[in-house]
Amino acid sequence: MWWYHHPVTTATAQANPNIALIKYWGNQDNTLRIPSNNSISMNLDGLYTRTTVSFQPSLPFDELIINGHEVMGTASDRVSYILDIIRGMANIHERAEVISENNFPSGTGIASSASAFAALALAGSKAAGLNLSEQELSRLARRGSGSASRSIPGGFVEWQAGTNDEDSFAFSIAEPNHWDLVDCVAIVSASHKKTGSTEGHGIAWTSPLQAARVADAPRRLEICRNAILKRDFNAFSSIVEFDSDMMHAVMMTSTPALHYWKPASLDVMNCVRQWRMDGIPVCYTVDAGPNVHVICPETEAHIIDKKLREMKGIENVLVARPGGPAKIVENGK
Ligand code: DP6
Repeated sequence: MWWYHHPVTTATAQANPNIALIKYWGNQDNTLRIPSNNSISMNLDGLYTRTTVSFQPSLPFDELIINGHEVMGTASDRVSYILDIIRGMANIHERAEVISENNFPSGTGIASSASAFAALALAGSKAAGLNLSEQELSRLARRGSGSASRSIPGGFVEWQAGTNDEDSFAFSIAEPNHWDLVDCVAIVSASHKKTGSTEGHGIAWTSPLQAARVADAPRRLEICRNAILKRDFNAFSSIVEFDSDMMHAVMMTSTPALHYWKPASLDVMNCVRQWRMDGIPVCYTVDAGPNVHVICPETEAHIIDKKLREMKGIENVLVARPGGPAKIVENGK
């Protein structure tokens, strides 16, 4: 008797995290992760998640291993949710082993969900024998984590909110080498944040400021997009800081209130403003945690890195330049 033997199919992909310059906060649809507004980000070169997905007929369930440790619960359910979509698209039924590594120091508070779900979407779809377009990959990654949609294309990226699963995806607005910006990430606290982004998005609309934030988004997006295209750091720095402050105002006024800043975060923001008044082109932006992303042109990166390292309460500084798209690094049988 002949047994049809399915080959083990494996693929490995790598993706960078990204820093939002115009933020995603709040959804039109929480399940599909259709955001309330477009967002713009820059991929962070040098930092990455590398993920291998291998579909195996012998596995009774999906297995997730992150940095050498088996992970169960919510994180693994979220991975299986994406694998289920991939299985449905490819019409396969095998469970998968997912082995994922982050090269950035773990516990630094650098969000890994963007790079993780971008790498998972690419490796998983390849391993299942699918050849998805950039748009399809961005949509798939979005369903795991909204910001992951922006880690599929390279360089400076805009995520078009759209209104449904088909038209909510990200695309490049400029290549990585378009503008030599540097993100010096001041690591304020390595401790795990209390409220994750998913929960935060869910309560964004409890803040009366969210409607104003969303209504004003097209204006901010246009200023930011044009500033990037023209490499206009003055326009860029004011809109990036304004957008970050506006998102944190929504967070602080939602129910329950979310306060992500620590005293050291505020110290860095104040210093950055002072340095700019002293003539250095530099600005800050903060995601859903206490770390402060300090962005400047390449020419200022060395001095900014040094100044940040001298500050009290700063545990480490990670330096990242504009990064490329998610990519396959190895394709198995
Ligand atoms: C503050 O993409 O992490 O970093 O879709 O629930 O996974 P989920 O949320 P996530 O939210 C990111 C929020 C942010 C701003 C941004 O990256 O645009």
